[in-house]
Amino acid sequence: MKKLLILMSFVAVMVISACGGGSQSTENENTTPPQSMVESKPTDDATVADDPLANKGIGPVTSVELGAVDQTMVEEGKVIYDQLCVACHKPTEKFIGPAPAGILSRRSPEWVMNMMLNPDQMLKEDPIAKELLAEYNNVPMISQGLTEEQARKILEYFRTLE
Ligand code: HEC
Repeated sequence: MKKLLILMSFVAVMVISACGGGSQSTENENTTPPQSMVESKPTDDATVADDPLANKGIGPVTSVELGAVDQTMVEEGKVIYDQLCVACHKPTEKFIGPAPAGILSRRSPEWVMNMMLNPDQMLKEDPIAKELLAEYNNVPMISQGLTEEQARKILEYFRTLE
């Protein structure tokens, strides 16, 4: 009985090491699947470079539906913008920060709202925001403590700037 056990464990060891060897070689073959998994991250980055509109940024906003421009929201957005943003953003000219005019041709609406609502993390982790920070001499976009609703109204106002 003992002998059988020993034999069995010997066989088990053989099997395991055989598998180990096998899995090693599959690991080599497998470098393709893991690589393609790893690739899916750089692809995100590549998408960001190729298509900034695919980047939704990092923050509370994951989906924004843009319908017809809502004039009430535009007006309310402009009021907030004039209070909290004009110190650094002129509507149509580069200033301390970029001009928001035409922003939706270069950024997704989600990204724009996340940049308003969560600039600290965006500037640390989002590839476009990091580039912007460098471009703007490391002057950071600062959180103005907006609510999502306020940010959405400002976004609506941005849609009317050209
Ligand atoms: C103290 C100056 C300052 C204030 C105030 C400020 N921002 Fe900014 N903002 C910046 C700077 C500088 C950038 C460029 C990126 C960076 O360096 O962080 C920026 C970037 C942005 C961007 C990204 C622009 C782009 O082209 O991608 C948006 C959107 C934005 N700000 C919206 C706002 C809104 C909305 C407000 C008001 C609620 C506001 N900012 C207030 C300085 C400011």
